[in-house]
Amino acid sequence: MQLLGAHILSVNQFERGDIEGVFNVADAMAPYAARQKVTRVLEGAILGNMFFEPSTRTRVSFGCAFNLLGGDVRETTGFQSSAIAKGESLYDTARVLSGYSDVICMRHPEPGSVAEFAEASRVPVVNGGDGANEHPSQALLDLYTIRKELEHKGRALDGLRIAMIGDLKHGRTVHSLSTLLTLYRNVQVTLIAPDELAMPEKYVEALRQAGHRVTISSELSSSIGEVDIVYSTRIQEERFTSKEEADMYRGRFRLNQAIYTQYCEPNTVIMHPLPRDSRADANELDNDLNQNPNLAIFRQADNGVLVRMALFALILGVEKTVDDYAKPVNWYHRRSAP
Ligand code: NCD
Repeated sequence: MQLLGAHILSVNQFERGDIEGVFNVADAMAPYAARQKVTRVLEGAILGNMFFEPSTRTRVSFGCAFNLLGGDVRETTGFQSSAIAKGESLYDTARVLSGYSDVICMRHPEPGSVAEFAEASRVPVVNGGDGANEHPSQALLDLYTIRKELEHKGRALDGLRIAMIGDLKHGRTVHSLSTLLTLYRNVQVTLIAPDELAMPEKYVEALRQAGHRVTISSELSSSIGEVDIVYSTRIQEERFTSKEEADMYRGRFRLNQAIYTQYCEPNTVIMHPLPRDSRADANELDNDLNQNPNLAIFRQADNGVLVRMALFALILGVEKTVDDYAKPVNWYHRRSAP
C-alpha cells in the first residue's frame, strides 16, 4: 500500500512488505532521534495533534516525531478545550482543523470515530487510538520493538512465541498487534486474561485462520514458560462502567523478578505499551524488574518516535529527502541507554 497522502486508521491496511518499508525508514531516523543530527525537511508543515483521551507517550511522541523532522505541532487536548464541548460535530471539526494542518493525529474514546473524522478531513489522519478498537501506530512500534529485541538473539518475527496478558477485551494495543501478527508465519500466541476480559473472538479467529497456534489461559505462571515475549497490559479502567468493576480484575496478573526467574525462559523480553499501573493494587510489572536487561518497555517507548517519524515521512513523501535537509546539532545532548 502507498502511504503517500494516506490516512492510517487500521492495521488492516498494511501488508507485510509495507511494514518492512516503514521499519526501514524508522531505522534511518535513529540518528535524528538520538540527536546526532537534525533535519528541517518538514519546515513549515503543521501537525494537528488532537487527543480527546488521556495520553502521554502517543501524544508527545507524535509531536516530537514531527518536531524532529522540522515541523510544528498544534495541540488540542480534552473535549473541554475544544468546540466539541459546544456541540460541534466531528465532521465540522475535521473540515476546520484540516484547513489548518498538513496531517492530523487523533485519539478519541469512540470506536470508529477517527475513521469518521478522516472522511471529512482534507488532510491525512492518523489514528492515535479509537476507544477499544485500534491503535495502529502502537502495533507498528510494538512489532518494530519485537523485531529489534529478537534480532540480537538470531530470531525473527516468523516463528515468534508471544504471551499477551491482561485486559485483552478492551485493550486496543493487543487488538492491533494480534492483527498484525496474522501477516507472519508460524506464530504461537498465548492469551492470558480473566475469562470476562478475554480477547474478542474475531481476533482469536483471525490468528487461527493465519495458521497460528493460539493458547487461551487465565493463569500467568503456568503460561509464560515458553515464550520469547511477555506483553503485559493494563486493566482498561476507563472502559468499565465503574471503578469497582475494574478493581475486580486489577492486580490479577503480576509479574515481578521472582516470578520471572522462576517461570520464564532466560532472556524472555518483557514489553508493555505503557502506562503500567504501578499502584499497589495493580502493579502488573513490578519496579524490581527495572534493572532486568530484558525489560524492554522504555526501549519500546523510544522506538515510538522512530516509527512515528517514519509514518510522517512516508505520508508526506519526504522519506528520501530527510538527509538532504540535515544539519549538525548545536547543543550538547547527554542521554544514557534506555
Ligand atoms: C495504550 C493506549 O492508550 O491504548 N497506551 C499507549 O498508547 N501507549 C495502553 C493503555 O492505555 O493501557
